Amino acid sequence: MEIKNICCIGAGYVGGPTMAVIADKCPDIKVNVVDLNEDRIQKWNDKNLDKLPIFEPGLAEIVLRCRGRNLHFSTIVNENIRNADLVFISVNTPTKKYGLGAGKASDLKWVEACARQVASNASGHTIVVEKSTLPVRTAEVIKDILEASQTFSSKGMQVNTFDVLSNPEFLSEGTAINDLLNPDRVLIGGDNQASIEALSDIYKSWVPSEKILKTNIWSSELAKLTANAFLAQRISSINAIGALCEATGADVREVSRAIGADSRIGSKFLDAGPGFGGSCFKKDILNLVYLCEYFGLEEVAKFWESVVTLNNWHQSRVAKLITKKLYGTISGKKIVILGFSFKSNTNDTRESAAIQICKDLLDEGAILLINDPKVNKEQITIDLGLAPETEINNLDSTINQKGCWLFVDDMNESFYNADAIVILTEWPEYKEIDWNLAESRMRKPAWIFDSRSLIDPENIRKNSFNFWRIGDGS
Ligand code: UDX
Ligand code: ADP
Repeated sequence: MEIKNICCIGAGYVGGPTMAVIADKCPDIKVNVVDLNEDRIQKWNDKNLDKLPIFEPGLAEIVLRCRGRNLHFSTIVNENIRNADLVFISVNTPTKKYGLGAGKASDLKWVEACARQVASNASGHTIVVEKSTLPVRTAEVIKDILEASQTFSSKGMQVNTFDVLSNPEFLSEGTAINDLLNPDRVLIGGDNQASIEALSDIYKSWVPSEKILKTNIWSSELAKLTANAFLAQRISSINAIGALCEATGADVREVSRAIGADSRIGSKFLDAGPGFGGSCFKKDILNLVYLCEYFGLEEVAKFWESVVTLNNWHQSRVAKLITKKLYGTISGKKIVILGFSFKSNTNDTRESAAIQICKDLLDEGAILLINDPKVNKEQITIDLGLAPETEINNLDSTINQKGCWLFVDDMNESFYNADAIVILTEWPEYKEIDWNLAESRMRKPAWIFDSRSLIDPENIRKNSFNFWRIGDGS
């Protein structure tokens, strides 16, 4: 079974970069990425590579090399499914907002719609690959739908057949291209050896064979949820210890270094921050919780749910302590927010800690001046559910009571009369801030809140700032 033609349904943060790398590494395979969202596809096809819908270091160069050669972005879904030997399902699977499992289970509406679309358009033998993070046993749903539509010739021979594989994506946003080029492992779950080998051959074009792990389909689905739950658990753990450091005089960076040197623990994912965000961690843990509850494993469900509970508490803790340090009231005070994406090097704001922290500060009546190098004003408006002010001069700090915000392109301009600067995303440009200039423009006493340990305290020692950083009790 040789794959010559791939169709990926969903041109998002997973589908886009993953297919770009496959097209780059496998020039003999035609890769069609399809999406219902015309605007998104138009952006993928824009001549101006700055307009790609996703910002990922290294992505634009690959798109430039492959687009129009063997990488195509379009809204033509049915025809591309028909021509494909292999279909990746890479659509959104948000947490359900209503009905059974609301707030925990994933909404499989989009996955189901895809499966039905594949069922009615595929021809010959088609391998269907789950790429989106999905609840365990979703493959069964996809299989059911596909099997119901398998067709037979007049002689009883099957002419339209399917195989379902699970191939979860482990890329991290911001380093997606590097993660795809040099993965720790590629995981393929399934029960048909020929299909597993066909998918594995694609990855073998650049991934060493020993890094391609093959499991049964349910293990593969569960491994993805478990990997994300373990990573998120480390962050909640270190954030919890950070709070204790602040209370006891310890320093969370020193604690991280000390425990990370233990090879059984390891040094990664031990940076205390404003709380984890991103589209996966919370959703995947809640999925795991739902699954445990479904199978009557209440204690296991509670154990994993506490990782999310702690993350929520931690985000509200950051907003509360900012208010407390500014004499318990921030109504009408100007606070500069540096960073809105959930981590650096991405324009993605899904579940970003900045959203809850900014909402809490707005509820207290603050005037927020928000800067982010890659997130635009429109996205922040959606996330905060509040339209921005347009003129910095309109922000009269004495009369505003409800809280408002303004997007600032030039952060230096936002420092005038600000009471505080809050660093929420670890963008490298925030390391280069001219602190003398900031100090000269801010109202005194001026505060810096560094939730990402981005600033070297030495750099501001000679200034008059009050300085708080995460997990620093010294
Ligand atoms: C995660 C997984 O890492 C990836 O394997 C999976 O495929 C998708 O989910 P992603 O959400 O893109 O990737 O980013 P990640 O680097 O894991 O960061 C998630 C959140 O944790 C971010 O908000 C980040 O700032 C935070 N984080 C990460 C910390 O607060 N401290 C750390 O030490 C590491
Ligand atoms: P992820 O981070 O998992 O990639 P995104 O939300 O960024 O998630 O991308 C998922 C994409 O899938 C969206 O662009 C959405 O328009 C697309 N999509 C959802 N359902 C379908 C469908 N039935 N056919 C084509 N595209 C779809």
